Amino acid sequence: MRSKIVSMVVFGMLLSLVFATAGITEDSPKFSDNIVPDTLMCFPLKLTFKRPEETHKTKFAAVKFSHGDHGDVSCASCHHMWDGESEIMSCASEGCHDTFGDRHDTQSYFQAFHNRHAEYSCLGCHTAYNKKLKAEGKDQLQISSCVNNICHKSEG
Ligand code: HEC
Ligand code: HEC
Repeated sequence: MRSKIVSMVVFGMLLSLVFATAGITEDSPKFSDNIVPDTLMCFPLKLTFKRPEETHKTKFAAVKFSHGDHGDVSCASCHHMWDGESEIMSCASEGCHDTFGDRHDTQSYFQAFHNRHAEYSCLGCHTAYNKKLKAEGKDQLQISSCVNNICHKSEG
């Protein structure tokens, strides 16, 4: 029992070291006792979007995103320009969703998240997923209205 506690503490310290470098302090992943992780993926498991200065001002709550909530979705569904090898880039990388003024431009930052017709966008994928849930008679993801839906979730 004691050695189990000691090894858990050591493991916890190792984990916090690994994630400290990525700036992650909470919600470290918990792994099964049946495995020894050989490599750890260094990407933000949970993140909060910080709207770029240039985007339209809005009162909707900042969006939090969890990679963990999307464990069944392939990386490339969202990171749709990723070649499977090189570094994964953020949405607003140069040449990608890097225009801020026109919300209707498919290359705009806004459309990266709100394009209803694109699988890579939050709204596009969730809309399609909800159709599937509806057809199966299951509860749908709450994607409307914009205020206090699962994306722009108000605190409290
Ligand atoms: C459901 C959509 C979705 C899936 C699936 C997904 N990601 Fe992400 N990922 C995001 C979003 C959104 C961001 C934040 C993008 C930004 O910074 O603009 C992000 C950010 C990242 C970043 C940081 C990029 C940066 O510099 O900002 C990395 C690295 C990353 N993801 C890796 C992965 C890997 C590896 C997988 C598969 C195991 C994966 N992602 C699956 C949506 C997703
Ligand atoms: C390619 C598809 C896809 C994209 C893109 C996507 N999601 Fe999701 N998302 C899903 C699926 C599927 C679920 C349901 C997961 C489940 O129920 O296990 C989900 C669930 C969620 C949930 C609810 C988690 C819960 O169980 O309460 C939130 C919040 C969420 N997504 C936020 C986002 C945000 C924010 C973005 C964009 C930055 C995004 N998603 C992009 C597929 C996607």
